[in-house]
Amino acid sequence: MASQFALLLGLLAITCSVAFASDNNPLQDFCVADNSSSVLVNGLVCKDPKLVEANDFLFRGLHLAGNTSNAVGSKVNLVNVEQFPALNTLGISMARVDYAPLGINPPHIHPRATEILTVIEGSLQVGFVTSNPENRFITKLLQKGDVFVFPMGLIHFQRNVGHGNALAISALSSQNPGIITIANAVFGSKPAISSDLLSKAFQADKNIIVRMESQF
Ligand SMILES: *[C@@H]1O[C@H](CO)[C@@H](O)[C@H](O)[C@H]1NC(C)=O
Ligand SMILES: *[C@@H]1O[C@H](CO)[C@@H](O)[C@H](O)[C@H]1NC(C)=O
Repeated sequence: MASQFALLLGLLAITCSVAFASDNNPLQDFCVADNSSSVLVNGLVCKDPKLVEANDFLFRGLHLAGNTSNAVGSKVNLVNVEQFPALNTLGISMARVDYAPLGINPPHIHPRATEILTVIEGSLQVGFVTSNPENRFITKLLQKGDVFVFPMGLIHFQRNVGHGNALAISALSSQNPGIITIANAVFGSKPAISSDLLSKAFQADKNIIVRMESQF
């Protein structure tokens, strides 16, 4: 009896940890988002299931390369619930990332998702930093076919270290992972965080902070 109870507790613990590892579990087969509804809930309102058709479960276009002619030399094409309403309540999304030579996907956080990335073309240096107080930097050089995981909520990045373009496909454990790019959030917030505060936080001269703010 006691051992059955322990088993039940164990199973409950596993079930709970799975449920908390991504978005809430759905309560129906699907809930294709009705983007015309103005009702605000945690997620999006369902389209009438009787009106849902096969095309609702299809997204096209990830074969198209992103334009990497920008300051960081990369382009993320995110397919979340906004682009693909069928993802509503399913706890999953996808991204295509193109990198020019030496291009980076700058340090950022997904507040609601773990990310699993597969290199399709080229070589990438990837890394993430663990939380305080260790702040351990975990990094790896990836080649075509390699798969790497960035745990939920940790700062991570990718950099193309090959000679040609690179391409990666990522899956994320939320219909709406969110992206916080560190530099943009800290130095480009609207309105700006005071440069005195940032000067103290980064232990850097105020002129440096003002210059950083002017970049974002
Ligand atoms: C809402 O979804 C329809 C059908 O998927 C799409 O054509 C339309 O552009 C979407 N509208 C908005 C505001 O996202
Ligand atoms: C890529 O983006 C750059 C900068 O915005 C732009 O000048 C260029 O025309 C774009 N290239 C294509 C093929 O869209």
